[in-house]
Amino acid sequence: MSNNTRENFGSKMGAVLAAAGSAVGLGNIWRFPIETGQNGGAAFIIIYVACVLLLGIPIMMSEFFIGRHTHTNTAGAYRKLAPGTPWRWVGRLGVLSGFIILSYYSVVAGWTAEYTVLALSNSFDGKTTADFPAIFAQFVSNPWKSVAWMLGFMVVTHIIVVRGVKSGIEKFSKLMMPALFVILVILAICSVTLPGASQGLEFLLKPDFSKITGATVLNAMGQAFFSLSLGLGCLCTYASYFGNDTNIGKTALNVSLIDTFVAIMSGFIIFPAVFNAGYTLSSSDIGPSLLFITMPNVFGQAFGDIPALAYGVSVLFYFLLVLAALTSTISMHEVVTAYVSEEFDMNRHKAATIVTATCSAVGIICALSFGPFEGVKIFGMSIFDLFDYVASNIFLPLGGMLIAIFTGWYLDKKIVRDEISNNGALRVPYLRIVFFILRYVAPVAIAIILLGQLGLF
Ligand code: PFF
Repeated sequence: MSNNTRENFGSKMGAVLAAAGSAVGLGNIWRFPIETGQNGGAAFIIIYVACVLLLGIPIMMSEFFIGRHTHTNTAGAYRKLAPGTPWRWVGRLGVLSGFIILSYYSVVAGWTAEYTVLALSNSFDGKTTADFPAIFAQFVSNPWKSVAWMLGFMVVTHIIVVRGVKSGIEKFSKLMMPALFVILVILAICSVTLPGASQGLEFLLKPDFSKITGATVLNAMGQAFFSLSLGLGCLCTYASYFGNDTNIGKTALNVSLIDTFVAIMSGFIIFPAVFNAGYTLSSSDIGPSLLFITMPNVFGQAFGDIPALAYGVSVLFYFLLVLAALTSTISMHEVVTAYVSEEFDMNRHKAATIVTATCSAVGIICALSFGPFEGVKIFGMSIFDLFDYVASNIFLPLGGMLIAIFTGWYLDKKIVRDEISNNGALRVPYLRIVFFILRYVAPVAIAIILLGQLGLF
């Protein structure tokens, strides 16, 4: 696809919803609430919001103006802006990260689809606390089911991506994101009106600054990074479809606000129900076990007096996860598809098919690492955990740090100023602060996250 036939998002709202769809994902729901509850409640939220404002938004703006300025895929963008330099590897690293994350993220996305079906068929009804770990273990270790759901999810992602930017990604984001908000609000209302909900809200929101340590700050930074989909070129790729009148600063602020709102609302859904059910969360509840073992049990107990409500809440919760996961998988698929299509001069359909086929092959290996490949350990980790660790703990922060250095030190300041101000049409009093953050604060802060993730800090 040559640049002059390239599509753009049809509206600013469509662009915001697509980028917010990338950011809002499983990370908001399975990690943020627990991190908050265990790390000082509102004290953690304050630090998280500070990380989003100080680090997240400037880096998101960098991804946006790199993409919008070059109107090409993330690898091509760096090649265009820094021809003949090693900077092109930053874009390529992003494409590789997108490929890896899509492969294992689709496995978990497939689980959300299976659990939606289980919820729909009322399979959680009458189960006891002891049954849920067994149901989950049985499901993930079943090679056929887990692989089939992963492939199903990948195919749905493929179908949306193949339809193109406007009639695929934008159209579905405009449908899925509002549906996601409505479900989120309904679930939060159901949960906060439960008896004893205030205890859950207190656990989530009461500031306890004594729990804040260096590790908490590191966690908040890492979480902000993953949650905002930074460091991989996802938002750079989406921004390559932004119109020239899109306000980059405002879009970054809106996407970050939406992402943070969804994360906090997830806490409003989870904690009141957990406290009502008399359940005590531990650190092992971070991640899949929260979604697939704790929550079906908690919903059954918290809303058990009205079975129809327990049923409805469970169905809506898993459907919410499906929507959140799908808007994120689309964005990762698009990073790789745009790269293959534009760098290898291939039509979008063929490029997307190659991406779907190769990611599915790697996804199958990830899915099987809970079953037949369970014993395969690399550096002491299963294949799934290894991919997750390398991509989200190393590649994403590394990519983010390089993006900050690239825009703060390498890129011509005029390009940055022109992009952020839409060639002088917008007033951007915050430009100097953004530059300062990109030059000094972000590279140092992200280097610390990276060393922290590697256990070296
Ligand atoms: N932001 C997504 C989440 O919170 O689940 C995950 C993600 C999507 C990370 C896209 C990176 C990315 F490029």
